Amino acid sequence: MSGEQWAKQRVQELQALLQKASIAYHVYDAPMMEDSVYDRLYRELQELESAYPQLITPDSPTQRVGEKPATQFQTVPHRIPLYSLENAFNLEELRDWQERLLRVLGRSPEQGELDYVCELKIDGSALALTYVNGLLERGATRGDGQAGEEITQNVRTIRSIPLRLAVTDPPPVLEVRGEAYLSIAEFERINQERRSAGDPPFANPRNCAAGTLRQLDSRIVAARKLSFFAYTLHWPEGWGAGDPPQTQWECLQQLKIFGFSTNPLSQVCRGLGEVSQFYEQWRAAKFPYASDGVVVKLNRLRLQEEAGFTQKFPRWAIALKYPAEEVPTRIRAILASVGRTGAVTPVAELDPVPLAGTTVSRASLHNADRLRELDVHIGDTAIVRKAGEIIPEVVSILKELRPADAVPYALPRHCPECSTPLTRLEGEAVTRCPNPQCPAKLRGQLQHWASRDALDIEGLGEKLVAQLVEKLRIHTVADLYYLTPEQLQGLERMGSRSSQKLVQAIQNSRQQPWERVLYGLGIPHVGVVTAKTLASHFPSPDRLAQASSEEIAQIYGLGAEIGEAVAAWFADAEHRQLLQALQALGIPAAPAQEVPAVARVLAGQKFVITGTLPTLSRAEAKTWIESRGGKVTASVSRQTDYVVVGAEAGSKLEQAQQLGIPLLTEAELLALDPTAEFGDPHHRQG
Ligand code: IVH
Repeated sequence: MSGEQWAKQRVQELQALLQKASIAYHVYDAPMMEDSVYDRLYRELQELESAYPQLITPDSPTQRVGEKPATQFQTVPHRIPLYSLENAFNLEELRDWQERLLRVLGRSPEQGELDYVCELKIDGSALALTYVNGLLERGATRGDGQAGEEITQNVRTIRSIPLRLAVTDPPPVLEVRGEAYLSIAEFERINQERRSAGDPPFANPRNCAAGTLRQLDSRIVAARKLSFFAYTLHWPEGWGAGDPPQTQWECLQQLKIFGFSTNPLSQVCRGLGEVSQFYEQWRAAKFPYASDGVVVKLNRLRLQEEAGFTQKFPRWAIALKYPAEEVPTRIRAILASVGRTGAVTPVAELDPVPLAGTTVSRASLHNADRLRELDVHIGDTAIVRKAGEIIPEVVSILKELRPADAVPYALPRHCPECSTPLTRLEGEAVTRCPNPQCPAKLRGQLQHWASRDALDIEGLGEKLVAQLVEKLRIHTVADLYYLTPEQLQGLERMGSRSSQKLVQAIQNSRQQPWERVLYGLGIPHVGVVTAKTLASHFPSPDRLAQASSEEIAQIYGLGAEIGEAVAAWFADAEHRQLLQALQALGIPAAPAQEVPAVARVLAGQKFVITGTLPTLSRAEAKTWIESRGGKVTASVSRQTDYVVVGAEAGSKLEQAQQLGIPLLTEAELLALDPTAEFGDPHHRQG
């Protein structure tokens, strides 16, 4: 297929899909896709159409402002059309926009920075309000920008919209525009109510606001607390005694004077430097309402007028959108990736695409069931989402865009790493490689062991781990501790310094506490939190190895699944071997025991020990005395304060009796420290 033939087909597909999406959104308030997905496909269509202008048809979604409004309400023409905004998805696109703006205004950068007003882009529904002699006469939706739906009854229910302007000498006619929106709290309340009533919930606050405004029964509208931020004022030409507003900023002030609420975070910004600061300041913020970006508007109205409009957009304003959470992109290939537990995950390799601040080129397809559900083909356009996970996921497939040569995909039957036949247990979603020696598993285990929450070994990344397994024949995590800098130096990108540093980092990790080691072992179902809980109940590997699954399951917050998983892991001979190998290396490090400070009750006193004591060895008794400040000497003299006597005492007992030195049994000795516990002297050792 030639480039143009391909483009023609793609343009037609995109046009059809976007048109469908647009009608679903505008006419039925039932969006088919996320805005970010729409935006990106729209952009692709725009680009193709500008490369091949002969492909533009008058009904392309790029050739009109919106779809016709639904018919329930009366359609009314707007006295002044409502424009939509061009989008910029990053600061570079914002700079391009300013460059064009400067060109249109015939300004050179030497003439100084332009002033902009930055406002939050509120994700609601635009309203056009008309006031006649100070009274709210009409409220209308945006519709297609030229004509909207007359919804005055509903608009009157919005408390932040004044029914009468708050001035004594109102203009004969005033046009105000702004955004009707729902607070997130109110949106959630409405959805809760709908769920209990068995109605489907709204997808987001914007749909909820739009749907509410187009309710035929204004009592329902009143019960849902819509709000309104005003952002555009059309000052009647030649009206008023004083000076009309000269800037967007003054318009916002005047709107407040008229009694409208305006967004309090709006700000005048000098040049794009301050604009980008504003954007950075708010892009990660949480507001009580939905906001999907920042609207940047040229402040001077006279300059706005000079800049004018394109067919669709004002040249003097742009929406700088926050990074998208969902985007469409093409699946180039699908790989089966084997993880540390042997789980085989299909991973899509994508045309790289920016998503929520990073460039994404891989996305998880989860498992065989998911593959079948999505009916994934190589070559498909997938919608990819980032949802807190490190690796994004494919949420859906745009089947409308499936090319004729797309190839269906299913998981392989054999492990792509070691060719062992894969297994899938009844009732389990996961397909696994059962080979305990599978190199992919080992790589995953090593990486998990080195990860931040486990042994936290810096410098042990994916590529290096692969080399350790392949070239240095590392078999277990314990093998890491025998690596030498010389061995590492033979590997790719490892110099002498980095090799030494890594060996040092590996050795340092031996000091990590038991809970991290436990997490690092990668026992199924044992995450960071569970590892902590387990480690606090079973303070050593031996203690945990002895615990039964029931014993573990009983611990608050754990349960049977974890109990069984842990007990099964410790029952495995290979795992026990690994624990032994680690223990030989001093892993986990013996806990720095919390010993209550021992009072130095025996300070300055001299002891002699003779005979065999009932519970303490000679050495233990010595430690016990010394840790309390006493001294133990070998022979009895006049300086001796006490002689501790056990069974079969010899000459020292006689000497003590001769010198009249007090004799102590072991129990009497221990009683010298009133804080000591009898019967368990080991606990009191310092
Ligand atoms: S100004 C010619 N300011 O965003 C001026 N629009 O994507 C056009 N919106 O249809 C609008 N917050 O519904 C403007 N502070 C704001 C806005 C805002 C939200 C909406 C509005 C508009 C859409 C364009």
